Amino acid sequence: MTPVAAVDPRTPVAPVRPTFSLAHARVGRLTLATLLGVGAGVCAVGLLATSAWMISRASQHPSIAALGVAVVGVRFFALSRGLFRYGERLVGHDAAFRSLADVRVRVYERLERLAPAGLPAFRRGDLLTRLVRDVDQLQDLMIRVVPAFTVAALVGVAAVGMVALMLPAAGLVFAVASLLAMVAVPYLTHRLARRSEGRQAELRGELTLAIVDLVEGAPELVANGAVPAQLARVRAHDRALTGTAAAAARTAGVGTGVITLLTGLAVWGAAVVGIPAVAAGRLDGTLLAVIVLTPLALFELVLPLPGATQAFEQVRRSATRVLEVVDAPDPVLDAPSPRELPTGPHHLVLRGVSARYAPGRPLALDAVDLDLAPGRRVAIVGPSGAGKSTLARVLLRFLPYETGLATLDGVGLADLRGADVRRVIGLAEQDAHVFDTTLRENLLIGDRAATDAALHVALGRARLSSWIDELPLGLDTPVGEHGARLSGGQRQRLTLARAFLADFPVLVLDEPGEHLDTATGDALTADVVAATTGHTTILITHRLAGLAAMDEVLVLDGGRVVQRGRHAELVAVDGWYARQWQREQGVGEIVTRAAGRYR
Ligand SMILES: Nc1ncnc2c1ncn2[C@@H]1O[C@H](COP(=O)(O)OP(=O)(O)OP(=O)(O)O)[C@@H](O)[C@H]1O
Ligand SMILES: [Mg+2]
Repeated sequence: MTPVAAVDPRTPVAPVRPTFSLAHARVGRLTLATLLGVGAGVCAVGLLATSAWMISRASQHPSIAALGVAVVGVRFFALSRGLFRYGERLVGHDAAFRSLADVRVRVYERLERLAPAGLPAFRRGDLLTRLVRDVDQLQDLMIRVVPAFTVAALVGVAAVGMVALMLPAAGLVFAVASLLAMVAVPYLTHRLARRSEGRQAELRGELTLAIVDLVEGAPELVANGAVPAQLARVRAHDRALTGTAAAAARTAGVGTGVITLLTGLAVWGAAVVGIPAVAAGRLDGTLLAVIVLTPLALFELVLPLPGATQAFEQVRRSATRVLEVVDAPDPVLDAPSPRELPTGPHHLVLRGVSARYAPGRPLALDAVDLDLAPGRRVAIVGPSGAGKSTLARVLLRFLPYETGLATLDGVGLADLRGADVRRVIGLAEQDAHVFDTTLRENLLIGDRAATDAALHVALGRARLSSWIDELPLGLDTPVGEHGARLSGGQRQRLTLARAFLADFPVLVLDEPGEHLDTATGDALTADVVAATTGHTTILITHRLAGLAAMDEVLVLDGGRVVQRGRHAELVAVDGWYARQWQREQGVGEIVTRAAGRYR
């Protein structure tokens, strides 16, 4: 889990190729869209040129027949320009949205592989921006950037060529003005605004991060009177973002202004070389309007270019951020040729297993031995930070082990596919996510195909049946965001029922009683102990009540197993376990006595 380096805003960001590779495979549609765009551009120039000629010619009062072809031409160009433009938009957006869908799928698959161990390298709000905003930004490559430049260049060559055929000097003026407008102006505006353009994606990430913090932490912020400070943080980020966006927009605006100026100069220059040419008889008078007005049509296509350069810069920056997610290293690599999953009953064995979160960090697990024969139940206890959850992560292959050997039925865990391991070893986590839907849907995550009868069995094991039976909507009761409409105990029991329903051969329960008051927590532990009889189970807990029924208890401290044995043996010897046990009993006594006094 190496932290991802922030993109240095001064470095000339990611190469173009990965940007395209992210939005790969839609080259056919993209080319078609660009060709349609070229068609629309040619029609625009054709329309203006034909109309200019027709108006000039009409001023000479010729017969209607002499204007016939031009009239048809004007109609043709006017109608087809609209059709081409429509087709370009349709095909271009289609290509872009298809690519975005590809990218989203790729990013999501990546997240699935990174979760949960690799995700902390990214911050949540920022990750959200990467997934939504940065991926969206990639469409500009296909909608605003590539077509704009290709169309302007191809139509530009055609238009300049046409004018040069009529009057080479005018063609030269037009060519110089076009080159300045299409190359020099976008390049210069890009140079000027590169910093502000590039910073926008990161600033947007920061802003989202601050807003997510503000919204999610609202109760704590209100309770501690810290809302103004957090609001000020949001405002500061917002100001920074608005500032850079405004700076980028100003530069693009200046670019557009310069292009408009160049348009005027091209028109004026064409008139300056055209009028003497007409006087000298080198140019037909009716063509003067054509060479003077054609630049107007071309420069209309050139106007979006400064904006497109900026969009390109943003696309590159966003692509870099998306690629950081896509290219993030796998936290746990599957073996190149993984072994097949042994058939049960499953026997899990750890011999001297050590693990750490990153190279150079201290060992979070240090030479742990564990023997979990089928049907055996082991409790893992120990102070906070002892490595209990780390052990669970290693078993689920969310975190690789460094030394020692972990085997499932004699096959090394590292030789199995992570996904296969997780079909055998299931985890009910400390803070398992409860989805904002009904109780039923939350349970079905454990087993999509479960019948209502199976749901009720699982609920019974988690001691939720009587509560659910009393609910007017029963299993269809919505639980609210993060299970907000449930009590802490009900939420934990729902997570348990989900794990029971999934029916993993080996079940790891990480602190089912966490965040609950002592009595509720102990009742829950007792129910868990009763419900897992005969099932291979690892129960992680920091409370010791109810552990007498476990086959073995491991006390972890600083990643090492400092004590092991049955509950009865451990309370009898001096050590962390006996001390903790006495403390729990003592607190229990005080609570009972206090309750008696105030009764
Ligand atoms: N994602 C992580 N990245 C880096 N270090 C971590 C990570 N998670 C845990 N650690 C560190 O590993 C050690 C063991 O943590 P672990 O979460 O396993 O403790 P625990 O025994 O489950 O504690 P608790 O009872 O508070 O849940 C701690 O020192 C912790 O700071
Ligand atoms: Mg833990």
